[in-house]
Amino acid sequence: MATETLNKTMSGEEMVALSKKHTLFEWTAQSKVDPIPVARAKGIYFWTPEGKRFIDFNSQLMCVNVGHGDPRIVRAIQEQVEVLAYANPFMATEPRARLGAKLAEIAPGDIDVFFFTNGGAEANENAIKLARLASGRHKILARYRSYHGATAGSMMLTGDPRRWAAEPGMPGVVHVLDPYHGIARGWDTAEESLAMIEEVIQLEGAHTIAAFILESVTGTNGVLIPPDGYMQGVREICTKHGILMICDEVMAGFGRTGEWFAIDHWKVVPDIITMAKGLTSAYVQLGAVGMRRSISDQFKDKVFYGGLTYNSHPLACAAALASIRVYEEDKLLENARKTGVVMKELHADLARRHPSVGAARSIGLFGLIELVRDRAKKVPLAPFNGTSDEMTAFAKFLRQEGLYTFVRWNTFFTNPPLCITELEMREAFAIIDRALEITDRAVA
Ligand SMILES: Cc1ncc(COP(=O)(O)O)c(C=O)c1O
Repeated sequence: MATETLNKTMSGEEMVALSKKHTLFEWTAQSKVDPIPVARAKGIYFWTPEGKRFIDFNSQLMCVNVGHGDPRIVRAIQEQVEVLAYANPFMATEPRARLGAKLAEIAPGDIDVFFFTNGGAEANENAIKLARLASGRHKILARYRSYHGATAGSMMLTGDPRRWAAEPGMPGVVHVLDPYHGIARGWDTAEESLAMIEEVIQLEGAHTIAAFILESVTGTNGVLIPPDGYMQGVREICTKHGILMICDEVMAGFGRTGEWFAIDHWKVVPDIITMAKGLTSAYVQLGAVGMRRSISDQFKDKVFYGGLTYNSHPLACAAALASIRVYEEDKLLENARKTGVVMKELHADLARRHPSVGAARSIGLFGLIELVRDRAKKVPLAPFNGTSDEMTAFAKFLRQEGLYTFVRWNTFFTNPPLCITELEMREAFAIIDRALEITDRAVA
């Protein structure tokens, strides 16, 4: 394992102790927290203060898409902060103007007006606000296997168990089932799933539904790639009933799947699109809601009741412009497609050789593997919303060997930065290959 000495002011142990003492970690009981201290990062790697190197196989939180420490983005942020660090959202600035125009160029179809936020949850909050104001309707359809953010409204859109503790919350959200039903039951066809959505709309009353929000490729709930025809079908249903289609591209957008936006794979144009994460590759926090002209036109005379102190923050807009330039200059969408093929082969190879691999899914560099204790019966290696000794041991091994990724329930993710080379990819999979020997031992 590569190690190196760094000029450090605080040891990893000190960082962890002080962070645990005075700051709250998210989504976990504080006594269970065991953070990795991080001092610096470059490309697909990051290092602890003591010089232990990790392969960042999750792009941190599926967000550092271009990779760590890109000098072009660093320079753009430095140049912007020297000239204008902040201007309030009633002002027009060059980074705001240029970013709106650039996003209009790369967003699907005729989406060409944007509202900027601090991140994904706020983008979704504003998307439903826009949909309600524009449609004059109230209800929002969302899916169960989804995550849309942790603010009050986006938490209610979220279908997964992270919602439970926040209930009861904002009324008017109706959840529908996904085409995927977990590893044991598997997938519905597009037709079956669309029929279920039609039925829910009939029972709820189409005239009461403002929008249907869905992740184009579902992220934390399993890298769920919709069957062909599903997204086109959702588009048709929404159009037929005057329901606005909102695609949440917070995780799937910006090259993760090999296209600017995941919905581009199905050539569908939503009415509203939300983004964050890869928009700036997380160098500065920024989210955005994009909308078609037909929606923004409604606010020509009608007030858009929404605002944020840091809306269109110049530093964040400059970081986004620089990040988009890196995707283009380094052809990162192409690289995601190319190395995505390699990743798919490596997934298949693991599935052939490891009996604990129950399913492997990927699109571009958005990947996930589901582990099982019985392949024939497809019994997951950890229960829904739970963990197991085997999954814990698997995660511990990866960490020990210097590979960082998300291990959730019976799954783990393969979401490297899009700048990854084939060699680096194979280096990561060699570690995963050894880790799977642990989970194989649990197979009946
Ligand atoms: C699909 C999706 N939507 C929304 C969010 C929320 O974004 P944020 O954490 O920036 O508020 C996330 C975060 O992981 C996400 O994956």
